[in-house]
Amino acid sequence: MSAASLQGLRLLISAGPTYEDIDPVRFIGNRSSGKMGFAIAEAAARRGAQVRLVAGPVSLPTPAGVARTDVRSAAQMREAVLAGLPVDAYIGAAAVADYTPAQVAPGKIKKNEARFALELVRTPDILAEVAVHAARPRLVVGFAAETDDVERYARGKLEKKKLDLIAANRVGVPGSGFESDDNALTVYWAGGERALGPAPKTRLADELLDLIAQRLRTA
Ligand code: PMT
Repeated sequence: MSAASLQGLRLLISAGPTYEDIDPVRFIGNRSSGKMGFAIAEAAARRGAQVRLVAGPVSLPTPAGVARTDVRSAAQMREAVLAGLPVDAYIGAAAVADYTPAQVAPGKIKKNEARFALELVRTPDILAEVAVHAARPRLVVGFAAETDDVERYARGKLEKKKLDLIAANRVGVPGSGFESDDNALTVYWAGGERALGPAPKTRLADELLDLIAQRLRTA
């Protein structure tokens, strides 16, 4: 079967981690390599979509035909994603930090104390904001990275964040999730689900885009 065309459609995709600065030399980050989101961007551009990729700090080349905006923090990612609207679909594959330091120390923090507490505040939820935005894309697709109880947590996010689809992957096990070239996804929507993989992220990107293309054709 030939891949469903995305000709003429605009896709906005987030990928990679965010880094939340503590001081000029330290930050809070996570293990996301950007491979999953970049694979989706590459496959979407190959199918003829106009793709904007908002990338956290990763060391991956820009896929052919993709317009890329590099960001560092969750706040910068939010700004770049909202600036990318309107689009037909938003796919949030980035591992956005849930918390950021309440303040960034202007100088390097010295290790004078035996214990040190860092005050963290919640970051804005970019995906949830896109899903209720005045320029809401026709399709809002989230990811869920879970270590356990995958379906319950993923379906919770699908509903709470008002998404059309959520692609859940198990993290914390070898061969899927963060950093690996391979992954296994279960895509959930209201009243249905589809298991994809295990397979290389490049193939899963295409299979996820088949589900997205189907919905964009009927939405
Ligand atoms: O980058 P790789 O190494 O290839 O790894 C791929 C991946 C594991 C990062 C990817 O497949 C994945 O699961 N991405 C989402 C990771 C995540 O942060 O999941 P979450 O369950 O914490 O967040 C749920 C959704 O809300 C995600 O779509 C996330 O982008 C979004 N979110 C979360 C917090 C926040 N402040 N803003 C958001 O938009």
